[in-house]
Amino acid sequence: MPKTINGFSKLSKEEKIEWIANHMFSDAQEAVKVLKRYWNTDEKLQKLHDDFVENTLSNYYLPFSVVPNVIINDKIYTVPMVIEESSVVAAASLTTKFWSKRGGFKAEVISTVKVGQVHFMFEGDKNVLINYFKSKKSSLLLATKSITQNMEKRGGGIIDIELRDKTTDLTNYYQLHVTFETADSMGANFINTCLETIANEFKTDDIHVVMSILSNYVPECLVRAEVSCRVEELYKEDAVYYANKFLQAVQIAQIEPFRAVTHNKGIMNGIDAVVLATGNDFRAVEAGVHAYAAKSGVYKSLTNCSIENGVFKFWIEVPLALGTVGGLTSLHPLSKFSLEMMQHPSAKELMQIVAVIGLAQNFAALKALTTKGIQHGHMKMHLNNIIKQLNASEEETNILLAYFKNKTISHNAVRDAFNQLKETGELL
Ligand code: MEV
Repeated sequence: MPKTINGFSKLSKEEKIEWIANHMFSDAQEAVKVLKRYWNTDEKLQKLHDDFVENTLSNYYLPFSVVPNVIINDKIYTVPMVIEESSVVAAASLTTKFWSKRGGFKAEVISTVKVGQVHFMFEGDKNVLINYFKSKKSSLLLATKSITQNMEKRGGGIIDIELRDKTTDLTNYYQLHVTFETADSMGANFINTCLETIANEFKTDDIHVVMSILSNYVPECLVRAEVSCRVEELYKEDAVYYANKFLQAVQIAQIEPFRAVTHNKGIMNGIDAVVLATGNDFRAVEAGVHAYAAKSGVYKSLTNCSIENGVFKFWIEVPLALGTVGGLTSLHPLSKFSLEMMQHPSAKELMQIVAVIGLAQNFAALKALTTKGIQHGHMKMHLNNIIKQLNASEEETNILLAYFKNKTISHNAVRDAFNQLKETGELL
């Protein structure tokens, strides 16, 4: 039976596993075996992963895949993706190959400004506060000099500090709204250290600092990616009809939040997978992207589409605060590998790559949804997974794949067909 425990974090890894196995599992030995099967035999590597977080018991595998043939601004990339959902990598690969034959993707970084805030309460006269802030601003910047020096050498630093009056929304509430440039690092630690130093320098007996923290809402850290071609190049048959259906699918996601959420989820399939593979913070990206999708007050599609004078254009604008130095990017051997595979991109270049994969994912989903339907491709992957679970031989697999080419796929149907094949040696 599950139990509570004091001092769990003080136990050794072996003791933690033993305690969990003995208290939560009917077969303790088997539970220990499952956890240890995923340990790396290279002890140094295992220790590296153990030390990323607390209470580590084992490793949790996800597939590390790649998408070749990604052409962005005439440069070719092989892009890493870490994701468990079948079809996502296949869809990205097909789409990037498709566009590689139509000029590739164009991408540009619009801006790279990041934000942090010192949230504080002040009960006194607003004009006194404004004058105090004005008199203090240069010493706030000076106080952070030792932290910003290195960042400034890399072209980053604090852009500005602004006093913001939020008292109409919350009594006595003000902010120091600080903008940052963090060059090739995501900059979370840098921003938070600067903010805490600023807060310390700014506070008085009358200024009560509530908290100092970066914002993951980064509407000014924006990248745009785009593809375009003549409508007739999009589909083998009925191009105008299907291109219009595609456009309508995007228009629906522009006005209907129920659809927009799923539409954007498909985009995030691609974005998160590259963000994870490169050791970036996918929760920060998720939070910022969805807030951006709702910036007008209505949750909307992140992508746009137009058909004008026979030219199809499809684009995405998305906020992405990413880093290619620091944090996990240089600690996790596979993140390092990912960045080297992409020829050591700058943070700006990585923003473009990630946006492109998001756009490619959405293109694949919309193309499937407005033609054969999404289940067609999904079910093919699903069929492969079911066959694998049944431990079918290579010959049996080929017979089953051929048999289900034009049939509805379900777990039961595949299992029944497999049993019939086993019993009779054929499938009719
Ligand atoms: C599934 O993970 C993603 C899709 O639902 C996205 C979409 O509907 O656009 C296929």
